[in-house]
Amino acid sequence: MIIAIDGPAASGKGTIARKLAERLGLPHLDTGLLYRATARALIDHGRGLGDRDAAVSAARGLALADFNEAALRSREMSEAASIVAAIPEVRAALVELQRRFARRPEGALLDGRDIGTAICPDADCKIFVTASAETRATRRALELRSRGEKVDYGAVLEDIRRRDERDSSRAAAPLRAAGDAMVLDTTKLDVEAAFEAALAIVEAATRRRARAAL
Ligand code: CDP
Repeated sequence: MIIAIDGPAASGKGTIARKLAERLGLPHLDTGLLYRATARALIDHGRGLGDRDAAVSAARGLALADFNEAALRSREMSEAASIVAAIPEVRAALVELQRRFARRPEGALLDGRDIGTAICPDADCKIFVTASAETRATRRALELRSRGEKVDYGAVLEDIRRRDERDSSRAAAPLRAAGDAMVLDTTKLDVEAAFEAALAIVEAATRRRARAAL
């Protein structure tokens, strides 16, 4: 079974994805890390975030095992990731790696922005996780503070709005819900309630799949 979870920044999709993957025993790929690691490599090599050739070779050179997640989740890297993610050649360079992951025989769960629309359009279950920008900014500010970053709510809200705008308006695989995705609004849900709602969506998809196989 392939599960695709998409949604905007700090919507709760990462937490939902991790918890679902654990419950279902599925391998999980957080595809945002691919764009974050590509941006990190550019910065480390002193290249500009708009340097297409360098960005494509950085994307091609990624090794999943090498990710230092803590360093990639900073506020600076979120912004940098969304800049390189708008380069169509970078996205193209990362398609096969993601599809290979999705084709694992035991199934897979991928989360990102374009999993249900571009990477796995035939996924068995698609969930688009969303929440108000204000709620997302509150969550992200708390998360960044817990990692030791000094951030204020207003700046984080601004970051989120800018990133929403960039991610949704880019030409290549823009952020949007697939036509056949279930939309899960977590604005008023805590982590447990959001997880239960997502699990119910997956269970319904599993029953649909079983009926179709009869
Ligand atoms: O955790 P958060 O939602 O803030 O970020 P993320 O999922 O790690 O994604 C960081 C950035 O990578 C996003 O703002 C997107 O620009 C980009 N991204 C993308 O374009 N496509 C994906 N499948 C995943 C992330």
